[in-house]
Amino acid sequence: MIVVFFVILRSEMRCRKIKERWIVPNGHPISSLDRRALELQAQGYLLPTRDMIKTPEQIGGIRRSSKVTIGALDLVQREIRAGMSTEDINKLVHEYTISHGAIPAPLNYDGYPKSVCTSLNEVVCHGIPSEEEVLMDGDIINVDVTSILDGYYSDASRMFIIGKTTPQNERLVCVAKECLLAGAAAAQPFGQLGDIASAITTLAHHNGFSVVRDYCGHGVGLEFHEEPDVYHYGRRGGGMVLIPGMVFTIEPMINLGSWEVFIDEDDGWTVVTEDELPSAQWEHTFVMTENGLEILAY
Ligand code: MF3
Ligand code: CO
Ligand code: CO
Repeated sequence: MIVVFFVILRSEMRCRKIKERWIVPNGHPISSLDRRALELQAQGYLLPTRDMIKTPEQIGGIRRSSKVTIGALDLVQREIRAGMSTEDINKLVHEYTISHGAIPAPLNYDGYPKSVCTSLNEVVCHGIPSEEEVLMDGDIINVDVTSILDGYYSDASRMFIIGKTTPQNERLVCVAKECLLAGAAAAQPFGQLGDIASAITTLAHHNGFSVVRDYCGHGVGLEFHEEPDVYHYGRRGGGMVLIPGMVFTIEPMINLGSWEVFIDEDDGWTVVTEDELPSAQWEHTFVMTENGLEILAY
């Protein structure tokens, strides 16, 4: 997930119009989709740029990449257990990915040292696998896999409960998944990104949990992190209009305590809750269709 710049968040959520972004190239026939997009743009809505809409061929590539991501997470789901180190998870994901002709996107991304993120208990995201970190009964952990196959990116993460955990942790993990699904259900073609954030925030708060504000979902497919930023936190609607063919993640981080987080100074990556209470996250890659979101990677 990527860092939210609050200035951009604020202006994008509030301003109905920044500039004209949906531009039909000269001499290009205007499709019915173009007409609908131009109409909304004329009304002052923020549209994606036209190149944020993936071609059927690109969606096919992201779909094939997603098979690797799903397979790697399925493997982790079968193997994960108490006594295993997070480095063992890294090895599983790395080898699975390579043996399926793909590249683990995290490895060397901005200097990130491993092939997967493993975020344990109070770690919100971007936890770095380590030999020293051994899973124990009662732990909750997020495993976040991103694969590149033939240049196409897919990004997904799941929570795992090691053995038996507290009822509170169980509820946190379950509600975080429900928040992702509620956000996805709220995303409608020609609706707005803010619909996702408000659905997630409402459900999380209803359950007495908080939503991390500093990291968000993102466009994905041709690169790891593309436009748009997909916010999880917000009370009102607004934001960019959702057009069929957009591919993006939703990946809410839900905290048991307060939403505030900090980055571990020692490694520069690990994001931890300020109050050191647990956090849970699930992530899917979706494509917007005429009928709502379709899950590509989970
Ligand atoms: N997979 C994360 C996301 O959902 C990003 C991880 S970046 C890394 O966007 F460098 F930490 F791997
Ligand atoms: Co992501
Ligand atoms: Co991810």
